Amino acid sequence: MFNNNNKTILLTGTAGFIGSNFVPYFLEKYPDYNLVNLDLLTYAGNLENLTECEQNPRYKFIKGDICNRELVEFIFNEYDIRGVIHFAAESHVDNSIKNPGVFVQTNVNGTYTLVDVAKNYWMEKPFVYKEAYKNCRFHHISTDEVYGTLTLDPNDLFTETTPYMPNSPYSASKASSDMIIRAYHETYGLNTVITNCSNNYGPKQHDEKLIPTIIRNALKGNPIPIYGDGKNIRDWLYVLDHCKGIDIVYHTGKTGDTYNIGGRNERTNLQIVDRICTILDEKVPLSSLRGTKQSIKSYKELITFVEDRAGHDRRYAIDATKLENELGWKADENFDSGIVKTVEWYLNKYGIKL
Ligand SMILES: NC(=O)c1ccc[n+]([C@@H]2O[C@H](COP(=O)([O-])OP(=O)(O)OC[C@H]3O[C@@H](n4cnc5c(N)ncnc54)[C@H](O)[C@@H]3O)[C@@H](O)[C@H]2O)c1
Repeated sequence: MFNNNNKTILLTGTAGFIGSNFVPYFLEKYPDYNLVNLDLLTYAGNLENLTECEQNPRYKFIKGDICNRELVEFIFNEYDIRGVIHFAAESHVDNSIKNPGVFVQTNVNGTYTLVDVAKNYWMEKPFVYKEAYKNCRFHHISTDEVYGTLTLDPNDLFTETTPYMPNSPYSASKASSDMIIRAYHETYGLNTVITNCSNNYGPKQHDEKLIPTIIRNALKGNPIPIYGDGKNIRDWLYVLDHCKGIDIVYHTGKTGDTYNIGGRNERTNLQIVDRICTILDEKVPLSSLRGTKQSIKSYKELITFVEDRAGHDRRYAIDATKLENELGWKADENFDSGIVKTVEWYLNKYGIKL
């Protein structure tokens, strides 16, 4: 239990990338919230991401599975939960191709368990909240991948009304979880919001994802693997801008609504790898690294095209007009500044002194 009368919010999956950037930001901004973090610590979760919060008396970590109804009910009762921000998920598309079952289990069943417990704890019957829980909100964190893929026409963008057309087991499981949240709003009148965000980058991302993979392999002098022709386009958003968007939607979003979050920073994978290699060439010249091939002059020479990901979506790009115009969100970081900070963070993580 917490030793104060603050409102307590349940966060899930915050030992992962986005959640672990969100918690310190949110704890500092809102001194009148306690935060409970429920995380199973799968391979993707790492408590070292949250060491800066460990000693905070308004933060509590609980190791456990969002699919475990008894545990989730216990947490709601024990901490009198007044809001949920749900990050926990299996999140890596490549893993969903190899092992889709766990994506359905965590992303679909886990989301159902959480939202159903929240509804029962906060509501008397459909459309009637218990008096003490009147403003309690369930915020579901989702992805732009639910919309499928776009053409290369720059005017073709994902909006909140774009039909769902998920193509990977990951995006299908996230789309399913979005539908469950929608149904709990429509059927029971639960106060829900959903945010669908584009690709995030920044500190604390798991080594398996594109940007850490590029940096790690480059520093070892290994081939830098790039899928297919490298021309797949993603819309990159600095992780803290995503966190700020979640904050705004959680506090001011319209109940039952969805909001797209994206940075208007479309890049091909080739542009990403090229930019990172340029930064590395400046900051850690190959000549300064022991054990790498001295014959190469730039990290760019390590770029190696590998067999494309099955069902690889060609282009994602977000139209964030609704969030910008209705709720006043704006990305603070652009890709060129954010990527330098990000590379510096990973260089530090991988033990490179600048
Ligand atoms: N990373 C992105 O670019 C991106 C973009 C848009 C949306 N999202 C969404 O944001 C959320 C967070 O993404 P991320 O990149 O931080 O993911 P991540 O893989 O880095 O972290 C996921 C966290 O969830 C935990 N978890 C997994 N299964 C669990 C379970 N059954 N019970 C409890 N905890 C469990 C893991 O231990 C981990 O800490 C996800 O819902 C993801 O779909 C991510």
